[in-house]
Amino acid sequence: MTEIPEHLLKRSKAARAKAGGEEPAAGASDAPATAVAKADGAAAPAKPAAPAAPVKPAAPVVKPDSPVVAAYKARKKVPIWAMLGLAILPVWGFMYAQALTPEKKVVQGPLGIGAKVYASECSGCHMADGSGAAGGAYSFLKSDAVTTFPHIEDQLRWVSFGTKAYADAGIRIAGDPNRAGGPHVVGTNGLMPAQGTKLSSAQLLAVVCHERFALGGIEQSGDEWDKWCSPSSPAWVAAEGGTSIAELGTKVDGALEIGSTPKPGTTATK
Ligand code: HEC
Repeated sequence: MTEIPEHLLKRSKAARAKAGGEEPAAGASDAPATAVAKADGAAAPAKPAAPAAPVKPAAPVVKPDSPVVAAYKARKKVPIWAMLGLAILPVWGFMYAQALTPEKKVVQGPLGIGAKVYASECSGCHMADGSGAAGGAYSFLKSDAVTTFPHIEDQLRWVSFGTKAYADAGIRIAGDPNRAGGPHVVGTNGLMPAQGTKLSSAQLLAVVCHERFALGGIEQSGDEWDKWCSPSSPAWVAAEGGTSIAELGTKVDGALEIGSTPKPGTTATK
């Protein structure tokens, strides 16, 4: 126990007597410091180590905690494991938000780019949904483009040159002459503007792939897909590398020549 010098004890007794005998909370008038230390003991268990302390001239005045501080010390603390949970909460929130965000549609590759080109260059006449106009620009729904052009090379050539160049060259049928439902005869439905002078070869290939695979709804697999319209197809890689539409056939195994002038279209069996 810490010794309290006799003269200090006397002085404090005298002072208390003078104040009207009002006892402090500790009660035990001869050992106030001890009592206070005990009262504090509940909240601060480290205290009992004090006995070894050297004799000090003044009493270690340990003030009792105010109710607010006592309540603060006695509060229930958040356990460590709960803190870990709280710490990863932002990460979890981020992942949760990511999971809820709908996957973005393809914007790269032939179909992604083709959809954009179609919307800005073709939808005005062929309609945004590809349904076309009666007696005007043809439909691309239900694989209509594939029915007219069994070979994608013929469609690429047609879109590149348009109605006028074919008519000028005296070519009547740009697609399949044996087309189911009758061949599409050049100029019958109006004037399809040439795209080869406006679009890059990659844009032109992309929009034709879009008309066949996306609007036409044919399956995105098989020979034509692998060679012309998949993002890793030789035609797409070459077109992106700057090969012209006229030369594109030379980059694909077994392709028909596209060439730099209009040509009659071919049947499914060539
Ligand atoms: C100014 C209106 C107009 C625009 C723009 C237009 N087309 Fe056409 N397209 C037509 C018309 C009209 C025809 C029919 C032409 C004919 O009878 O000679 C046609 C025919 C076609 C055909 C032949 C379809 C078939 O089954 O015979 C294809 C393919 C085609 N267009 C693709 C495109 C693409 C790709 C674009 C955009 C890059 C485009 N068109 C933009 C009006 C348009």
